Amino acid sequence: MQLILFGPPAAGKSTQAELISKVYDIPHVATGDLLRQDVREGTPIGREAKKYMDRGLLVPDDLVVRLVREHLKRRDAMNGFVLDGFPRTVSQAAALNGLMKALGREISAVIDIEVSDEEVLRRISGRRICPTCDKIYNVYYNPPQVPDICDDDGSKLYQRDDDREAVVERRIEVYDVQTKPLIAYYRRRDLLIDISGDKAIDAVHAEIMCFLKSMPESFTAPF
Ligand code: AP5
Repeated sequence: MQLILFGPPAAGKSTQAELISKVYDIPHVATGDLLRQDVREGTPIGREAKKYMDRGLLVPDDLVVRLVREHLKRRDAMNGFVLDGFPRTVSQAAALNGLMKALGREISAVIDIEVSDEEVLRRISGRRICPTCDKIYNVYYNPPQVPDICDDDGSKLYQRDDDREAVVERRIEVYDVQTKPLIAYYRRRDLLIDISGDKAIDAVHAEIMCFLKSMPESFTAPF
C-alpha cells in the first residue's frame, strides 16, 4: 500500500501517518522530519533547507525529491509506505509518478485531512515534540502526563521554530498557493479520499481505517 497523507499545516498528517504505519508495519516517510533531522545534524542538505524552513517557504523540489527517492528505494519500503508532507507541488507529484514507475508501483490513495483554519492555529500553538523519540503532543488535546516532559523517555519537550506566529501565517499561505492545487490533481486521477480532520485523533484514525478496510485485500496486501 502506497499512501499519501495530505492536508494543511498541523492537520494531523504525522499523527495519523504514525498510527497507519504501526497498523500495517510500513515506514512513515515524512519530508518535514527528514529535513529537520538534516538541519539538526548540520548536513549540507540541512544547511540549505534551513534557509527556507525558517521562513515558512518550501525547500527546492530537487532537494526534497532526492531525499524521498533515497527512502522509497530502501528495503523497508518494499511492502509499502505512508508519505507525509510530500508531494507539495505539482512538480513534486510528477517526480513521484516517475519514481513509482521506476519502482513498478502505483500510489494507492491520497488521504486529504481537512481542518478549519482556526483549528490549524490552535493545533500549531499547542504542539510540543520530544527531541529524543519525535513523539508529538499537544498541550490542549493530548498533553504529556507531566507538563513539557515526554511520557516515554523523560526528555524535555520543545516547540518547533517554524511554529512561531509569523512563520505559521506564511506556511498557510504557501499551502494555499503551492500545495492545494494537488487536491484537484489527485481528484482528477480518482485517488483523493476526503477525511474530516476536525475531530479527535482516535475518531480521525477510525475514519481512515474504515476507508482502508473497505478496500479490496490487494490494496493493503504486501507488495
Ligand atoms: P512539515 O513538517 O511537513 O510541516 P506541515 O506540513 O506544515 O505539517 P505539520 O508537521 O505542521 O503538521 P501535521 O499535519 O503533521 O500535524 P501533526 O500530526 O504534527 O514541513 C515543515 C517544513 O519543511 C515546510 O514548511 C517546508 O519548509 C519543509 N518541507 C517539508 N516537506 C517539504 C516538501 N515536500 N517540499 C518542500 N519543502 C518541504 O499535528 C499537529 C498538532 O495537532 C500536534 O500537536 C498533534 O498532537 C495535534 N493533533 C493532531 N491531530 C489532532 C486531532 N485530530 N485533534 C486534536 N489535536 C490533534
